[in-house]
Amino acid sequence: MPTSNPVIAVDGPAASGKGTIARALARHFGLPHLDTGTLYRAVALNLLRWGGDPESEFAALRACEGLAALTDDEELRSEAVGGVASRISAYPAVRAALLDRQREFAGQPGGAVLDGRDIGSVIAPEANAKLFVTAIAEVRAQRRLTELTARGLSAHLEDVLIDIHARDERDSRRAAAPLVQAADALLLDTSELDREAAVAEAIRLVEQRLAR
Ligand code: C5P
Repeated sequence: MPTSNPVIAVDGPAASGKGTIARALARHFGLPHLDTGTLYRAVALNLLRWGGDPESEFAALRACEGLAALTDDEELRSEAVGGVASRISAYPAVRAALLDRQREFAGQPGGAVLDGRDIGSVIAPEANAKLFVTAIAEVRAQRRLTELTARGLSAHLEDVLIDIHARDERDSRRAAAPLVQAADALLLDTSELDREAAVAEAIRLVEQRLAR
């Protein structure tokens, strides 16, 4: 009997394609979608605008207030904001402050798709289907570079690759909710897949899991 109103967790490192996949899954299954990275980015942007110190957990916690006004801000996608987001997301107080709204989203009666780093492990451990989306760092760096170029920004591949490695390191080594593949998550390596093939494979894996 297929699961109705499923909760689908999509985790993975930066630029792995998890955002694209999560949006496509939400469309395919007719579910609401939450990109949880946006919450951490909104805290980072709030902190930067207010001039708070990213080295201070207390300042980062204060920046968790009033996020609703920032969730559509153009600057959220910038590399500067992403870099600070990756730092402040290591603070347990920040993770705790953002926990309830993510759990509420995951718990809505109609089901939901969430993507991030700790959805399958911490936010929705009971999710009906979990994907861990990854790709080798060089491929992820190239994708991020293409994305930046399309937005009219210039960057060098080597710098983007260094940044990807730094984020992987911070996301995986932090003590609070590190990036890990949950034991029951299905691995989807998109290194050799284009967007369409990655989405098709994600849908196939989730449908298979939900049909069990
Ligand atoms: O996915 P995105 O790059 O937008 O996330 C920005 C940062 O927020 C990541 O580098 C990661 O450190 C953090 N994050 C997190 N947990 C999540 C989602 C994002 O720690 N569930």
